[in-house]
Amino acid sequence: MASLSPPILSLKSLFLSLLFTLNHAVFAVTVYGQTPLGMTMTSSLASGPVPTLPAYDKTVLIPPGPPQPPTTAFGLELQPQAASVPGLSITQSGAFLGFSIEMSVVNQVLGKNSSHIAVPLLNLLGNLQHRAGSVRIRCGGNTQELARFTDQLDNGAAIAKEKGNALNPTQTPAVLYTMDLFYIMSNISSLVNVKWYLGIPFNDTNFDLRISEYGQAILGDNLLALQAGNEPDLYARHQKRPETWHVADYMREFGDLVSFINNHPNIPIKNNLIGPSVASADWTPEMVWDAGYIETFKDVLSIIAVEHYPNNNCFAAFGGSGSLKIPQDEFAAYLNHNAGRDLVRPYLNSSAIALAAGKPFMMFETNTASCGGFPGISDTFGATLWALDYGYQMAYANFSGALFHVGGQNVYYNPFTAPPTNQTAFHQWTVGAIFYSVLVMTESFGKSNQSRIIDLNANGDNIFTPAYAIYDQDVLSKVALFNYVDDASGASDYTATISVGGGNTGAPNSSPAEVKVKYLAASSVSTGVNITWANQTFGNAFEVDGHLKGDLEIVTVPCDQASNTCQIRVPAPGFALVFINGNPEVEESDITFSTTAFTKLMNTATVDPAVLETSNGMSGKDRSKMGSTSFGSIDNGASAAIHGYVSVVTAVTSMMAGWILLRHVI
Ligand SMILES: *[C@@H]1O[C@H](CO)[C@@H](O)[C@H](O)[C@H]1NC(C)=O
Ligand SMILES: *[C@@H]1O[C@H](CO)[C@@H](O)[C@H](O)[C@H]1NC(C)=O
Ligand SMILES: *[C@@H]1O[C@H](CO)[C@@H](O)[C@H](O)[C@H]1NC(C)=O
Ligand SMILES: *[C@@H]1O[C@H](CO)[C@@H](O)[C@H](O)[C@H]1NC(C)=O
Ligand SMILES: *[C@@H]1O[C@H](CO)[C@@H](O)[C@H](O)[C@H]1NC(C)=O
Ligand SMILES: *[C@@H]1O[C@H](CO)[C@@H](O)[C@H](O)[C@H]1NC(C)=O
Ligand SMILES: *[C@@H]1O[C@H](CO)[C@@H](O)[C@H](O)[C@H]1NC(C)=O
Ligand SMILES: *[C@@H]1O[C@H](CO)[C@@H](O)[C@H](O)[C@H]1NC(C)=O
Ligand SMILES: *[C@@H]1O[C@H](CO)[C@@H](O)[C@H](O)[C@H]1NC(C)=O
Repeated sequence: MASLSPPILSLKSLFLSLLFTLNHAVFAVTVYGQTPLGMTMTSSLASGPVPTLPAYDKTVLIPPGPPQPPTTAFGLELQPQAASVPGLSITQSGAFLGFSIEMSVVNQVLGKNSSHIAVPLLNLLGNLQHRAGSVRIRCGGNTQELARFTDQLDNGAAIAKEKGNALNPTQTPAVLYTMDLFYIMSNISSLVNVKWYLGIPFNDTNFDLRISEYGQAILGDNLLALQAGNEPDLYARHQKRPETWHVADYMREFGDLVSFINNHPNIPIKNNLIGPSVASADWTPEMVWDAGYIETFKDVLSIIAVEHYPNNNCFAAFGGSGSLKIPQDEFAAYLNHNAGRDLVRPYLNSSAIALAAGKPFMMFETNTASCGGFPGISDTFGATLWALDYGYQMAYANFSGALFHVGGQNVYYNPFTAPPTNQTAFHQWTVGAIFYSVLVMTESFGKSNQSRIIDLNANGDNIFTPAYAIYDQDVLSKVALFNYVDDASGASDYTATISVGGGNTGAPNSSPAEVKVKYLAASSVSTGVNITWANQTFGNAFEVDGHLKGDLEIVTVPCDQASNTCQIRVPAPGFALVFINGNPEVEESDITFSTTAFTKLMNTATVDPAVLETSNGMSGKDRSKMGSTSFGSIDNGASAAIHGYVSVVTAVTSMMAGWILLRHVI
């Protein structure tokens, strides 16, 4: 059961009434009736009376102890050419990981309306586009099922919520949207290359297809596909359909939808549907394939999708079925390679079936746990490693993409969160741990659309030290090294000795003279603060304007070509992306949109897209030009030993009139 939004209404009123009186730290725990064991609460919010809503929860759990004896070294012998590597995935896009935004919170995240687009979001997405070429976002979830078009809403809002509907067991209010929803999306796409998925309401077969009609008309090519039904295997359990409703009924209703679309004059594109989007809860995907779904609907399906969360926090969130789960007890299961593998294994058959049918296979909605995730897990560095490993594992298993879910203020797992409406004047945005996973994924696969990945079963298939190799355009391009172990003593840091060619590969020695390394780092798997990628961070809660901050640090590791080895140290915990062939892309600025003029006060202020792109000065392109002409003098070849690593070359940042300019000075 997926997307949740348990107590939006009640939590909101509670939040408002407590806003100025509450001393936060224990708040989330009280609201959810949890008495988590083994937790220490640390609270460190910025100024302003802010209760700890789940999106800002600071729970710190106790990480599992390091395995004994620790891994300190292992070797990886890699084929230089993809042609010699059986089992490589299909080619993947840097936009492999994207986001699924719950329909009911679209306005909180994207912007209030088409003239109030959220600038921090544009900046965040700009970082991804810069690396991957595009970003894929779905607006949908449980709340898409009852979403209803309306001509107008108060104050020019694009989205509003209706009172909770008895048909919806997660008490998610029905959503009202106007034409402006499409203009928000379209205006975002005119600034950042965002491609969208929308969902057709499937609450009954008296289909309301205005979402398809207007979506196609207004978004054009920026609308990739339309999801027909969200987790139909849960319709009966959630009383959206009679108890006897089953796969055959779903097939029939899907057929009705297809006929309806075929006869609809204002839906020109009739073959861009997404299904069956089963949660794999009450039906397996195979039950749907066995009913002939793909064969029957192959001409109208553009994507075969599933949705799944590895766990749920429904009992704590709103007294949902099941029993209370104690986050401390659940934590360890996220902190090793089995997590991603176990999630992906049930879909290996389906991904092969989709591939054989020539359809992309996607994980359309996922995150750490349904019903909002877990405090102390969903927003920690542990989740960053988990989501990245899971993402790679899906790519290796021939999925073509996966979307991490974004809920409202009352969930723990958001990749990004706007400040509560009332606090936009004194708070910035918040980036969640999983945003870093998406960022690293964009660099892992890049822009070529030619990256293929393989799980190396590294270190005797040790579940705490997984590794992947990525081939781009047929040659070894990158190696991804994980260390899930939490050990501040350094005793569980390891050194991976990478050999390209030579040894048993049957290929000539091919290790380069040096490799570049970017680290994904934090002090512990249990922390959500100070997560860095190549030493840069978006900032902690309420500090995020969407730009990476700090000095970019790319480590250069010389290889020993005589012994054909490159030694890469990976801290515990940590992750290293090793660029074997070619440099990390850092020539251009990461920056797409400035917040210089659009300060935090202006998160909800009018932004004329045309102005946004050029005014504050200049477009991302112009800015990077400036970066490379104005600061040529900064610090060439600054080098220092960092964390005892082999050697370092940094790129430096510089500030000018509020612009952060990145420049590669190697
Ligand atoms: C489906 O949703 C629409 C829009 O919210 C509503 O008008 C209709 O009554 C719903 N159908 C059922 C069976 O609840
Ligand atoms: C967007 O919202 C603002 C503030 O609520 C309102 O003043 C403006 O008219 C709205 N814009 C449109 C196009 O509806
Ligand atoms: C942005 O939204 C407005 C509606 O508020 C619309 O008139 C305009 O065409 C949109 N611009 C783009 C590029 O979609
Ligand atoms: C794969 O799915 C097909 C279609 O449902 C089914 O017939 C087959 O038994 C499945 N194979 C495995 C190994 O699960
Ligand atoms: C993914 O597809 C490639 C190419 O068809 C194939 O060689 C590989 O075995 C597939 N991987 C999995 C896990 O099915
Ligand atoms: C917060 O919002 C509510 C309504 O949404 C409003 O009544 C209240 O005055 C606001 N408080 C502040 C500090 O803006
Ligand atoms: C990669 O794929 C995207 C989406 O299909 C496309 O827009 C882009 O041009 C492709 N890039 C390259 C280098 O082919
Ligand atoms: C996060 O980084 C800041 C700045 O370097 C530092 O002052 C703070 O102590 C760090 N917090 C934690 C929990 O590591
Ligand atoms: C990492 O970033 C911090 C904060 O921006 C900076 O002080 C430090 O010098 C950087 N380290 C390197 C090696 O660039």
